[in-house]
Amino acid sequence: MSRPIFAGRVAHLGTTVFTEFSALALKHGAMNLGQGFPDFDGPEAVKEAARKAITDGVNQYAPSSGLRDLRVAIAEHGARFHGHTGIDPDTMVTVTSGATEAIFCVLLGLVDPGDEVVAFEPFYDSYDANIGFLGAKSRYVPLRPPDASHSTWWFDRDEVRAAFGPRTRVLILNTPHNPTGKVFTREELEFLGGLCAEFDVKVLSDEVYEHIVFAPARHIRAATVPSLTDRTVTVSSGGKSFSLTGWKIGWIIAPPALRDAVQRAHQFVTFATASPLQAAMAAALRLPDTYFQELGTQYLSKRERLLSGLAEAGLKAYVPEGSYFIMADIRGRGFADDVAFCRHLVTEVGVAAIPPSVFYGPEHKHLGQGMARFAFCKTEAVLDEAVRRLKEGLARAR
Ligand SMILES: Cc1ncc(COP(=O)(O)O)c(C=O)c1O
Repeated sequence: MSRPIFAGRVAHLGTTVFTEFSALALKHGAMNLGQGFPDFDGPEAVKEAARKAITDGVNQYAPSSGLRDLRVAIAEHGARFHGHTGIDPDTMVTVTSGATEAIFCVLLGLVDPGDEVVAFEPFYDSYDANIGFLGAKSRYVPLRPPDASHSTWWFDRDEVRAAFGPRTRVLILNTPHNPTGKVFTREELEFLGGLCAEFDVKVLSDEVYEHIVFAPARHIRAATVPSLTDRTVTVSSGGKSFSLTGWKIGWIIAPPALRDAVQRAHQFVTFATASPLQAAMAAALRLPDTYFQELGTQYLSKRERLLSGLAEAGLKAYVPEGSYFIMADIRGRGFADDVAFCRHLVTEVGVAAIPPSVFYGPEHKHLGQGMARFAFCKTEAVLDEAVRRLKEGLARAR
């Protein structure tokens, strides 16, 4: 009798939609507004800092928690931009291989098999896979699109409360949120902090889009909300803030005991991450305020470009307050669901988008089936050509 090759924890994980739609985009010469990585490069000074670190011999293992200079830069950056003061670089920071590794190590360090993890839908896909790896149970609460009574994406407080119970160990937050662009308000964070205090739940706050926020929205670091400070592990990385997604330098910031839990996992997952890129990330985090302001201005202009293009193509889009994604309503166009719409878009119209139903659990999948996710972290030429194709192709389909 032969044994199955796949362990149960990976057997159900097929090819991701990103792989499928990137391959389709390539095959059909489509403008790729699917996968969320910039098609432009990060700051020259940061790339130069990486080259210099390699030349200067920063090429052996870093300490497992990360190069001390980077940990200091992470603490300084938190205070400078988010009023997150009192971060001790020696006891409260661990550097990881991207936010992806950070998320896994936080959950490895804090969640036991059979425990429950609460998160909002649509979710970043690694949350669901990681919860599954740990033999834990997900409890998802849907974010609802703006409507007559809500100007932004919102959640029902009773639904969140109902998801909490005696087995809940962690609440995963993501602000600014991928893919809706929601930026959680202080009041919402305070409500969630109150619930977490009541149920003694820890928080993983994924803030990788912390520098891509559009006024009047303002990014609030969850850990600066008093009821969340002692229970929150902040996760971030340099990929989005510095348009260097391939570097995979991420980090966590947490009170010492929580950081210790994450560090225990991290030391046996990757031990340490690329030393010269850590050195350069310290330089990135110390870039002047003007760099971060310009990043916001550039993304605002890209957001407006794609929003007006989608409107001209007849698609109703929800205005994101942060991140570099736009969710558009695709209902009433004669497609069975979001996957059928996105397949049509990539093969017939020449534009790749992501069907967001993959970011929902089975219970609320239907909520994602009426939408498509477009990324605007692309050059103006790519955005303009995508809009031209959408206007032409969707007019034909109508
Ligand atoms: C919400 C969210 N969290 C985490 C990540 C992963 O970040 P990293 O590339 O630093 O691993 C992404 C990347 O798309 C993301 O959108």
